[in-house]
Amino acid sequence: MRWLQSIVTICLIVFVDSRKLTAEENEKRLEDCGKNVKSKIFNGRKAEIDEAPWAVRINTYTNVKNIDETWSKHCSGTLTSPRHILTATHCAATYTETEWNGTVIDAPIYRKYCEEQSTLIVREVAASRIVVRLRNRTEIGRAKYLFMFNYCRKIVDKNAYEIQYPDDIMIIELSEDVEYSSELKPVCVAGNTDDNAPNSHLDLFGFGDDPPRDKPSSLKNLHDIPLKHHKVEIMDMNKEGTSKRMDPRLFIAKSVTRTSVACPGDSGAGGVKEIDKRTTVVGVFTKTTCKFVYRDKRDEETYASFGFYANDVCEYTGICTTSGSFSSLKYQITVLFLFYYFI
Ligand SMILES: *[C@@H]1O[C@H](CO)[C@@H](O)[C@H](O)[C@H]1NC(C)=O
Ligand SMILES: *[C@@H]1O[C@H](CO)[C@@H](O)[C@H](O)[C@H]1NC(C)=O
Repeated sequence: MRWLQSIVTICLIVFVDSRKLTAEENEKRLEDCGKNVKSKIFNGRKAEIDEAPWAVRINTYTNVKNIDETWSKHCSGTLTSPRHILTATHCAATYTETEWNGTVIDAPIYRKYCEEQSTLIVREVAASRIVVRLRNRTEIGRAKYLFMFNYCRKIVDKNAYEIQYPDDIMIIELSEDVEYSSELKPVCVAGNTDDNAPNSHLDLFGFGDDPPRDKPSSLKNLHDIPLKHHKVEIMDMNKEGTSKRMDPRLFIAKSVTRTSVACPGDSGAGGVKEIDKRTTVVGVFTKTTCKFVYRDKRDEETYASFGFYANDVCEYTGICTTSGSFSSLKYQITVLFLFYYFI
């Protein structure tokens, strides 16, 4: 295998410029993340300018006409390093109940690619259809790479869990590092699924619609929606005596007051909480009952559990909850494959 690894490494150096965090950059990230960020909270209100400085807008300039505007073009995201933003895969891809079946950004998907590994890496030029903005809409960068985790997984056993969906978690790598400021600071990331244990509370900051209680989302002018906050409680879905079994890569949460729910535009937003005195993202908001117009205890929000993907994220982006560098053979083979894919 050693010769293979050498060849792969050479290809890696010559042809791939994905900039995984180095061990030193990750150390620095661990020192800085989630510190001194404001999240003083009143429910369902507009956020202050220096509050939640990790929350960014994501705009996807899709190549698909007549696609559902709200879901494909406007999302929320979480800054996790000087060049990595956490968001949802559905901000750039289309899906069925059992699998991802395409992208909306002109990235051709070869099934053959999916036989080799599970995470889809999209690079420029397709990736650059994704633009990241501050809350005042100033552009802070474009994606150079997109990592769509487990994009290639198909749900074959529909009975395995009562609640299961294709994996909906994506990381954007920007082409240039951003500069931190009082309005732009990263949060830390969860280490494992214990961080989204039932009954804990999360703060969700997103650029989503906030329709009147008796109306569905209006789907218009999502680009100008201000950052808003609400507090949610993680539900215990796998309680003894109940039958709902949920895929551990997901969790479900409800607004603490049971009077609001995340809506279109909030997709990809990070659910955060304090862990060891650091603001830490533990979930990516992916699905909602917003369209049913309940705004009560029937409403629920589905999140991808960051902790479930922590090892994969570490491998592909260098955002690792423990210090030390990882550069596995699996990553290198993926990258080699990408190289073949582009010649
Ligand atoms: C993916 O599946 C959805 C839902 O079934 C369908 O509307 C869409 O056309 C499919 N897209 C592709 C590229 O096959
Ligand atoms: C948006 O905010 C940034 C950072 O505070 C600032 O530099 C920029 O001028 C603002 N842009 C607009 C259009 O207000």
